Amino acid sequence: SKAVVVAIDGPSGSGKSSVARGVARALGLAYLDTGAMYRAATWWCLHQDVPLTEVDEVAAQVEALPLVMGTDPAHPTVRVDGTDVGEAIRTTEISAAVSAVATNLAVRAELGRRQRAEIETARQTGSGIVAEGRDITTVVAPDADVRVLLTASEEARLARRAREVHGTDDAAAVEATRDQVLRRDADDSTVVEFHVAADGVVTVDSSDLDLEQTVQAVLDVVESVV
Ligand code: C5P
Repeated sequence: SKAVVVAIDGPSGSGKSSVARGVARALGLAYLDTGAMYRAATWWCLHQDVPLTEVDEVAAQVEALPLVMGTDPAHPTVRVDGTDVGEAIRTTEISAAVSAVATNLAVRAELGRRQRAEIETARQTGSGIVAEGRDITTVVAPDADVRVLLTASEEARLARRAREVHGTDDAAAVEATRDQVLRRDADDSTVVEFHVAADGVVTVDSSDLDLEQTVQAVLDVVESVV
């Protein structure tokens, strides 16, 4: 069987991590969360007391970043220098700081190289992979077999993030989430376009779909092109 490469991009709160994992599990593919790599890079720089505004110093730290991604979709892991940072990279502190690192072009070049290497390994070993992020369909793997842009209305995205962070999507929780989500998307948009599907990229709108339905919608796209 052919080692399929599936690229999924989308804004925060689009549900792309859960969807990408679901697709990878359904198809028996590896799973790469590239956002976790930017988060791990951010965690590392803060851990090393590097001011994120020091562009060259941040770039040097990320070039030497001892990062190992575990790509089992049932149990994805992120290790930096042997430490499991899976939870430490999900804090609001990291979420607020990550765009500063992700907008560093030398960082993007380095992490992009590592992401392409993971994808190439998955191709060559025959495992295949679902890689998920902001620029996978356009920059990292424009030659992927399947390319999907996962979108959702702002309302749906804020409600999802509120449930993730606060355990509820009542009005107060949504308000508490709004600034952070919209600011991060605005900051990220300065370097990568992920709101409009590039040529050949299939848009899947998850606003009115639950997780299972969204996974199925992406599986339908895979089926139609592979
Ligand atoms: O997907 P997630 O919200 O975990 O991504 C965290 C951050 O990593 C994004 O806000 C963005 O700044 C950065 N990112 C990126 N390119 C990717 C994936 C993530 O710039 N391919």
